[in-house]
Amino acid sequence: MAEDGGTNTFDVAQFAQNFDHHSRDYTNHLNAIFAHMREQCPVAYSDAYGGFWVLTRYADVMQVVHDDVTWSKLAGMSIPSNREPADPPTFLPGDLDPPEHDVYRHLLDPLLNPSALIQLDPFIRQTVRELIDDFIEKGKADLVQDLAAPLTALVTLKFAGLPLEEWPHHVAERREANSAPLPPEEEMRRVMERFQWTHRSFMQQLEIQRENPVWGGMIERLINTRIDGRPLTDEEYAAIMLNVVIGGLETTQALLGSAWVHLSECADERADLQANLNLMPAAVEEMLRCFSPQPGLARIALCDTEVGGQAIRKGERIFMCWASANYDAAKFDDPERFDIRRKPNRHLTFGAGVHQCYGRNLTRLEAQICMTEVLTRLPDYRVDEGGVERIPDSSTVYGYLTLPVTFTPGVRSD
Ligand code: HEM
Repeated sequence: MAEDGGTNTFDVAQFAQNFDHHSRDYTNHLNAIFAHMREQCPVAYSDAYGGFWVLTRYADVMQVVHDDVTWSKLAGMSIPSNREPADPPTFLPGDLDPPEHDVYRHLLDPLLNPSALIQLDPFIRQTVRELIDDFIEKGKADLVQDLAAPLTALVTLKFAGLPLEEWPHHVAERREANSAPLPPEEEMRRVMERFQWTHRSFMQQLEIQRENPVWGGMIERLINTRIDGRPLTDEEYAAIMLNVVIGGLETTQALLGSAWVHLSECADERADLQANLNLMPAAVEEMLRCFSPQPGLARIALCDTEVGGQAIRKGERIFMCWASANYDAAKFDDPERFDIRRKPNRHLTFGAGVHQCYGRNLTRLEAQICMTEVLTRLPDYRVDEGGVERIPDSSTVYGYLTLPVTFTPGVRSD
């Protein structure tokens, strides 16, 4: 994968000793850092943010995600932490451990089952078509701002039963937070403050739909849900909606952006995929493996334990790097190769275990439809490298703010 800035003057070994996933160096040299760490210090300690361990090998990450007795999310999923163990969860089910976690997860799972995806399919296709129609005659566009961002926002709002016309506000709120990140401690402490608009919109909809429910929508289902015979509290409702909307918006957008950049740089791979669009499902899995939009997340140890031969004490935190595990040669043959025929492809981009991503099949569907449409309707697109802007802090999302491209103008579909 191409990385901004090259690695010539960057000291990977030194970075590994002072690992900081909020730094610009991390964003610019992610893959070189992880390659070095997997080889030299697979379980490394960082003094940053009160101290934490960094796990870079596939087997070690798998050990943690399948052991919910030892490893907890009670201190939040970020480092520095976005919550104290005694705080109410910001994200549901994402912030809880089993068995409390499972109550909310079981409540959500039926809402995104295969038949829900079949119902969303025509909406996704039509939205992609219309968004491309809006710029195809111009011969230029910003594939993040004009396509990936509105698409992922509209699909998430549709699924969540929120007003579609609000999509620009959701995109703008995330864009603002991503382009001007606060210092990490502050960013995490003020996470709810930064989602103020989104939160207000959730609460308004809850009020509206208590009177006039949109039948079959996610909000209506949540309003009518009972946990141990009681309805959800407003806080539970907001934390569920936040987990789904935040989870759905930026990550899929980041995946698409990274994949478009890669295919623009690698003409042979693009031509191969264009000639074999039936391979798109496998190609999207490879995009997920290679361009993990969420490079890593945290856990806290509930007891003294050991990972990869390293003793870790109760109360210490770890940062598990899916983006590194996905390139581990102990798991993947020729991991540096982008191979649209790779099989099996058990990447960890969606995590694993009880917290494995709730929206993974929705992402797969969106990415397959959108990629196919772009490669068919803008077959010769080229990224205008001068205008490309990355999200500067990749601690939670590794992707692009802007992605200008040019292409031979085409015709609208209507
Ligand atoms: C490329 C797109 C996506 C990526 C890379 C991604 C990544 C992840 C990862 C790694 C986890 C596991 C967290 C952990 O173990 O601590 C997760 C959980 C979650 N994701 Fe996603 N996600 C994506 C798309 C989505 C979408 C589209 C939605 C909503 C429709 C969503 C909603 C959630 C929720 C609710 C959880 C919490 C699950 C639980 O704790 O049981 N994600 N996601």
